[in-house]
Parts: sequence; C-alpha cells; structure tokens
Amino acid sequence: MPEPIQIQDQLFTPFISSLQIAERVKELAITISQDYAGKKPLFIAILNGAFIFAADLFRNLSIEAEISFIKLASYQGTVSSGSVVTAIGLEDAVSGRHIILIEDIIDTGKTLHEFLPLLQRQQPDSIKIVTLLHKPAALQHPVQADYSGFEIPNKFVVGYGMDYNGLGRNHPEILQLQSDTHL
Ligand code: IMP
Ligand code: MG
Repeated sequence: MPEPIQIQDQLFTPFISSLQIAERVKELAITISQDYAGKKPLFIAILNGAFIFAADLFRNLSIEAEISFIKLASYQGTVSSGSVVTAIGLEDAVSGRHIILIEDIIDTGKTLHEFLPLLQRQQPDSIKIVTLLHKPAALQHPVQADYSGFEIPNKFVVGYGMDYNGLGRNHPEILQLQSDTHL
C-alpha cells in the first residue's frame, strides 16, 4: 500500500501517476490536433481546476490554436430557478469560432449544463468539451465530454490542479480520497 498523503483533515492515496497523466494528455492533444487541423480553435479553460491540465494539453497541440481562461460564478437569481451561472473573463469573440471547453473533471455535470446555453447564445460555429476526468456514476445532468482522459469511480480526487478546500492543487499526480465516505 502506498503512503497516504494528508491534506487538512483527510487522507488521500496515489491514484493516477504523473506519467499516466502525461501520456494521456499527449494522446488527447494528438487527437484534437488531428480533428481541428486548419480550424484555428479557441480553447476556453475553466478556472481554477483546469489550469494545469489546460497548460499541458495546450503545449502538446501541433496546430494553430488560441486559448482563453474563464471563471464561472454562481449567484442566486431573482426567480426561483436556483443558481444562475455567469462567466467572468469571456471576452474573446466566440461568434463563428470553433470552441473547445477545457474542464478538469465532470462530476454532476451541473457546471457545464448551466454554462453551455450561455456560450451557445454567442453563436460559435461549434462547441466541444475536453475533460481530464469524468465520473459517470455522479452524473446528474445531460452533459457529455467529446474528449475524456480517464473515467473514474465516484470518489473525491485532488492534485494536478484539483483541490480539497483550496489545497492539493500542486500535487503532480492525482490522489483519491482514502475513505469510502463522500465529501
Ligand atoms: P460538476 O458541476 O458537478 O460537474 O463539477 C464540476 C467542478 O467541480 C469541477 O470542475 C471541479 O472543479 C469540481 N469537482 C468535482 N468533483 C471534484 C473532485 O473529485 N475533486 C476536486 N474537484 C471536483
Ligand atoms: Mg472546475
């Protein structure tokens, strides 16, 4: 058994190594480069979690491409529909572009489910999603990644940009919560 790593009050165990991540990210970049040759796509990375994945994916692309970073903020709408999402930093012209959203992880799918209509309103030519991880067992909204690095079980993970209470983003590998209880 590998040594557990403590982050705040929780213990995490190594789950996906840096080497496994690097190899998979390279494969994703090769596939996307083939699919988007000559299309000059605009990547939009969703902060904070996707920043390391976005950097590694982007530097492995072999095609002309642009990248931009946004942060999604939820606020309570005046209507009873619950939270409404707003994108901070979505300044680059999206209209007529081929957009590839970069996510660290699709969990319930809520974030993308709320953000996609907002993006669609700006009339891009196409929208695709690349996520490093997805948890099919946690999915609650009709959101599907077009490119996915790893399918993982419904357990909390940290590292490689992803956090537990703001910490753990700097771990080069991906760690998984040791206990079976979900946060
Ligand atoms: P969703 O809206 O439920 O799909 O969750 C999306 C966001 O929640 C991700 O982009 C992450 O920032 C965060 N998240 C979901 N699951 C995890 C996890 O296991 N570890 C760290 N962050 C997570
Ligand atoms: Mg995120």
